Amino acid sequence: MARKIIIDTDPGQDDAVAILMALASPDDFDVLGIVAVAGNVTLAQNARNALKVVELSGRKDIAVYAGCERPMRRHLVTAEHVHGDTGLDGPDLPLPKLQLEAQHGVDFIIETLMSHEAGTVTLATLGPLTNVAMAMIKEPRITPRIQEIVMMGGGYFEGGNITPAAEFNIYVDPDAADVVLRSGVPIVIVPLDVTHMIQSTPERLQRIRALGNRAGDAVYKMLSFSERFDLAKYGSEGAPLHDPCVIAYMLKPELFKGRHINVVVETSSELTVGMTVADYWGVTGRVRNATYLRSGDAASFYALLTERLSRLP
Ligand code: BDR
Ligand code: CA
Repeated sequence: MARKIIIDTDPGQDDAVAILMALASPDDFDVLGIVAVAGNVTLAQNARNALKVVELSGRKDIAVYAGCERPMRRHLVTAEHVHGDTGLDGPDLPLPKLQLEAQHGVDFIIETLMSHEAGTVTLATLGPLTNVAMAMIKEPRITPRIQEIVMMGGGYFEGGNITPAAEFNIYVDPDAADVVLRSGVPIVIVPLDVTHMIQSTPERLQRIRALGNRAGDAVYKMLSFSERFDLAKYGSEGAPLHDPCVIAYMLKPELFKGRHINVVVETSSELTVGMTVADYWGVTGRVRNATYLRSGDAASFYALLTERLSRLP
């Protein structure tokens, strides 16, 4: 049976690829809705991008909601320097004809969790955790009803990408991440330690382009745009690919390795705010609250991604 998921996202080229991968997999995922959050760019732009990606997938049955327009306690930090002014630079995607749903994204999350059987809806989060934390605060009864949260966020062995200590999604709203990590919900963390292994080398991107469909062409253009920043920064053969690892993990968990450990987020230090302190070696005795992935099989990941994208128009 297809797994029921809500995708919470700030698209973002890598978010877009993750969304396409999920929407190309209707036998695996019943996508109940997509909720935009402020992150890579503003909420309004991220929501528009989500609509564009849904149209690109040909899945006009998917509803898109807008959630919170800023982090819980801080000013919004954005990443146009990586993703371009639109947040989705690269392909020339048409302005969406699809409309946003009128309901607030946080209320959609609450209503969906309350109306489905407890333990049957998973949250796949690809951006800052603001919407999820706000939903937990607004309606605490949802928390024990969440089947699992699979999140892209954090980094420990690789350090950070927006500061030396912090990964972008957690850094943008560390207070929200703190609420979620302390919630008691089963959590899987897909951190930079994994996503930095999943490199979009020229050969892998060419295979996606060679699919010859609209989605493959758009993904090729998106990732060719967003990778220029990382290639210059890391000097690697291919740029890391972050958010699609969340979807790949849910499709094929055997491609990834990790441990169930304690992870806490730093919310006060000026120097290390947003750092995910991962007790990978179990030295603290703190309660285990997350499965922290540490490695992934890049070749199998790209084979899976390419195959899923081949199913789209
Ligand atoms: C995360 O930050 C965003 O820029 C990407 O979309 C990804 O979710 C990586 O740190
Ligand atoms: Ca993202």
